[in-house]
Amino acid sequence: MVVLTGAGGRFGRILAERLIAEPGLYPVLLTSDPDKLPYETGAAQAIYRVTLNDPLSVRDVFGRIHDAHGDVDALINNAAVITLPGFEDFVHKVQDTRVMESFAVNAAAALLCIKYTLGRGRQHGKTIINILAGRALTGHQRHVEYYASKAGLYNATRTLAHDYPQHVFRNVMSGRIDLGDRGDNPESMWAYIRQVILNPQAEAYREVYFRPRGEYLWHLLRYYWQHFRCCERRPVERN
Ligand SMILES: NC(=O)c1ccc[n+]([C@@H]2O[C@H](COP(=O)([O-])OP(=O)(O)OC[C@H]3O[C@@H](n4cnc5c(N)ncnc54)[C@H](OP(=O)(O)O)[C@@H]3O)[C@@H](O)[C@H]2O)c1
Repeated sequence: MVVLTGAGGRFGRILAERLIAEPGLYPVLLTSDPDKLPYETGAAQAIYRVTLNDPLSVRDVFGRIHDAHGDVDALINNAAVITLPGFEDFVHKVQDTRVMESFAVNAAAALLCIKYTLGRGRQHGKTIINILAGRALTGHQRHVEYYASKAGLYNATRTLAHDYPQHVFRNVMSGRIDLGDRGDNPESMWAYIRQVILNPQAEAYREVYFRPRGEYLWHLLRYYWQHFRCCERRPVERN
């Protein structure tokens, strides 16, 4: 059984359709508004309402999923408070509530979804896939709360992968997704996600970049070089 968050969002709907169409997978779709989803609840899938910025709602929905459908095999953390087109000047223009909600949904709720996926049932071989942003690791421009909250989940997942190596963790460092305009092809992303879900014997942790080889290497090298250059070592006396 695969739990998908943000199933009514733009990428979420694509993932939901692919999960439903995949033989042998039993998708459970989480959304803030079930009326937005055009699927019938039946033998193939179930739909639950969740308010991700409410921890009680997250705990309650995973309790109900376990009770009704049994063990969760895979979780796709896709839901997010995303960037506002054209937004700039965080200091003067961002709403406090938006900052809080971004961290609540993008980091804390996703982490709770992982906790409740791994906390019950089988204690090995579960798959956690986070749809992050390519700049979660490096930081970027303008959308401070978005990249920072994605970084929180990135970092948490690395720690979890260390502490629970019997499970499979993927941080998908997505660039712009082609949702009708331009960007990474969602079919390529689904092909990768499908392969990870169907092959839980995979490596414990990977972070995934959908980029041409040269661009990918340049991105990582530039990041490591910039990080190296802005670090400094100071002498310290050790007691
Ligand atoms: N679009 C891109 O180019 C792009 C690029 C890089 C990374 N990503 C990542 O890809 C994922 C999907 O992005 P998208 O463009 O499809 O975003 P989107 O259309 O805004 O969908 C996000 C969905 O998250 C869910 N959500 C947000 N707040 C919630 C809350 N408080 N409670 C419950 N659900 C909540 C909603 O799902 P429901 O509608 O079902 O309630 C919402 O539709 C995100 O993690 C995003 O960061 C996207």
